[in-house]
Amino acid sequence: MRVIRTASLKPITKKTIAVIGYGSQGRAQALNLRDAGIDPIIGLPSRSRSRRRAKTDGFTVTTTPRATRDADIILLLAPDHVHGVVFTSDIEPYLRDGQAIVVAHAASVHFETVTPPDNVDVIMVAPLGPGKRLRELRGERDGVSCFVAVHHDHSGDAMPLALALAKGIGCLPAGAIPTTFAHEAVGDLFGEQAVLCGGLGALLEAGVMTLIKHGFPPHAAYLECVYQLDLIIDLVKSEGLAGMYENISPTAAFGARRTGKRVISPAVRNAMDDVFADVDSGRFFRSWVRAGAQTTDRKQLAPTVAREFARGERDVLQQLGEEPASSD
Ligand SMILES: NC(=O)c1ccc[n+]([C@@H]2O[C@H](COP(=O)([O-])OP(=O)(O)OC[C@H]3O[C@@H](n4cnc5c(N)ncnc54)[C@H](OP(=O)(O)O)[C@@H]3O)[C@@H](O)[C@H]2O)c1
Repeated sequence: MRVIRTASLKPITKKTIAVIGYGSQGRAQALNLRDAGIDPIIGLPSRSRSRRRAKTDGFTVTTTPRATRDADIILLLAPDHVHGVVFTSDIEPYLRDGQAIVVAHAASVHFETVTPPDNVDVIMVAPLGPGKRLRELRGERDGVSCFVAVHHDHSGDAMPLALALAKGIGCLPAGAIPTTFAHEAVGDLFGEQAVLCGGLGALLEAGVMTLIKHGFPPHAAYLECVYQLDLIIDLVKSEGLAGMYENISPTAAFGARRTGKRVISPAVRNAMDDVFADVDSGRFFRSWVRAGAQTTDRKQLAPTVAREFARGERDVLQQLGEEPASSD
């Protein structure tokens, strides 16, 4: 794997950058760019809930069409499922030759809800972490790294531009990892659905609810199945999966090896293939664009968690003095 840790900021220093959207990524990337000496303008709909926050942070806030007209580089950091509509109505009519469109996730370009013209660069700088961490750990070696990719190289300098942006938003020296739009679009969606968010969330909930069904109080079920997760993940990330098995107790290792395959059975692996096919074919993304068109409010989009699970979670986090982390 190639990891790029140094790059010149020069491709972006004398440019005007428009950040479209001021949520998790938009805010963190705009603030980090400003710390790097580049003051972006923010493009948002006139009724956006995010306008006040961007203004309070001291940015010039304007509409997306105006930001597009005024900028050289346009970071499209609105939610993925509205990229198509935003691009078609608020960006494309105002584009001019030689600008650059930048996304932080490749799905909308790869699955063609966004189809930019040939006379602009189309690149991706996709941080491997939420905006909050990108902001907190900007420029640190153990900070947030990113994928970089070029979809269309009109200028002939699209990759140096991607790397300059990676540096400007604080992902170097943690590292920029070159990839393709296809791999990032499909890999990111598959990973978050089957493993990191969907699969893991469902596994945790199923474990907790099994103990509750067999008479455990919710707080005890939560402590046994969820609470130590960060310690296990730390071990996996520092020692590898094999190292994790070596560092847990012999009882845990013996049980884990026998039981892991019972839970993640061949049926579950087949289901993962189905999930992959859904994502890879674009079926998932198209259905998300249709479903998500109703709202961009995360609270309305969030899945419901079983009531008993939530009770155990709340008890443990409150009693042990930890609040659930915010989502941004
Ligand atoms: N969050 C992450 O961990 C993460 C990590 C890597 C990459 N990404 C990528 O970063 C991009 C942004 O995601 P996010 O998580 O930052 O989203 P987000 O937190 O939901 O923020 C989206 C922002 O876009 C604004 N917006 C909504 N509709 C818009 C429109 N029609 N025109 C312009 N702006 C609009 C929202 O304003 P309102 O407040 O008015 O809704 C909000 O400020 C996505 O491509 C995502 O895949 C996210």
